[in-house]
Amino acid sequence: MTTRLVRIHAYGGPEVLRLETSELPPPGPSEVRLRHTAIGLNFIDTYHRTGLYPLPLPTGLGREAAGVIEDVGEAVTDLTTGQAVVYAGGPLGAYAERRNVDASVLVPLPAGVDGERAAAVFLKGLTSWYLLRRSYPVKPRDAVLLYAAAGGVGSLACQWAKKLGATVIGIVGSEDKAALARDLGADHVILAGSEDIPAEVRRLTGGEGVAAVYDSVGRDTFMTSLDCLRPHGVLVTFGNASGAVEPFAPAELAKRGSLYVTRPTLDHFVATREALLEASAALFDFLSMPDVTVRIGQRYPLAEVRAAHGDLEARRTTGSTLLVPG
Ligand SMILES: NC(=O)c1ccc[n+]([C@@H]2O[C@H](COP(=O)([O-])OP(=O)(O)OC[C@H]3O[C@@H](n4cnc5c(N)ncnc54)[C@H](OP(=O)(O)O)[C@@H]3O)[C@@H](O)[C@H]2O)c1
Repeated sequence: MTTRLVRIHAYGGPEVLRLETSELPPPGPSEVRLRHTAIGLNFIDTYHRTGLYPLPLPTGLGREAAGVIEDVGEAVTDLTTGQAVVYAGGPLGAYAERRNVDASVLVPLPAGVDGERAAAVFLKGLTSWYLLRRSYPVKPRDAVLLYAAAGGVGSLACQWAKKLGATVIGIVGSEDKAALARDLGADHVILAGSEDIPAEVRRLTGGEGVAAVYDSVGRDTFMTSLDCLRPHGVLVTFGNASGAVEPFAPAELAKRGSLYVTRPTLDHFVATREALLEASAALFDFLSMPDVTVRIGQRYPLAEVRAAHGDLEARRTTGSTLLVPG
């Protein structure tokens, strides 16, 4: 059997993404063959493409997809042909019509969650879970600051933080995104670039500052984020949309009130099968709560993956982005 898939042979801009055809062997003993129904696009895919996170080349790309099981390896006992599943881990290569995936990373879809919804929320929702429940566990009435509040992770984290009882201050890049963040429940929205963010955050929090900042922008916002925290506050710096954070002096944390900084990554929070299933169950519970919206802002055929990467990096997307296999 053959499959169409996207690979890179060199690092670079979206032009290095190539749609190719490749032979797909039968699944190994611990694997299943999946026909993808929806593929999740994530900002980390751009770090792999540019070489910010280096990989041996050539390589497939993509960490997240939903699909239907077509064939099952001989050692797989808990999954069957025809079952719908989702994953956000294992080796890269989700940008494909079909692929073999190790059964250990697959999670069956609960009733009422279709492939598109699953691929739109799985990686971004598991990330929101660990950010809000593990890195800095949000408490009722905490004020928290969330960057890219209308983006993929942001649109889920915004709603989840509200469900946990927080006051959410969102930062966004445009008026349209501001309206979207308000619809998703943000109590206050600040337009990036148009205001003195620490001053505005202090005004909104009665001079105190926020308990936590969830910062996915990275290099351009790191020091601003520290300036927004209350004493003993936590900066969760979890992404590099503007580039990787540069080295800083720990004395900066003392100066601003004995602050904490953590730089987490999803894999460490779902490292065991048990942890993955616990996090997935929490995510699916959250999705089943009243008024939770999954915003799929845009879909691109797999063959238009270059346009999808270009739009994500140029801040033209909102909510989750899907690649649609042929
Ligand atoms: N550590 C982890 O475990 C983990 C897991 C998942 C995702 N992440 C990180 O979370 C972030 C969000 O991922 P996502 O896939 O949901 O993407 P996304 O938020 O949908 O897209 C990125 C957004 O970042 C904002 N942004 C601010 N400055 C930017 C810049 N210089 N260039 C590009 N975008 C900029 C833009 O929103 P505005 O226009 O509103 O500013 C843009 O829409 C990424 O940084 C990603 O690396 C980390």
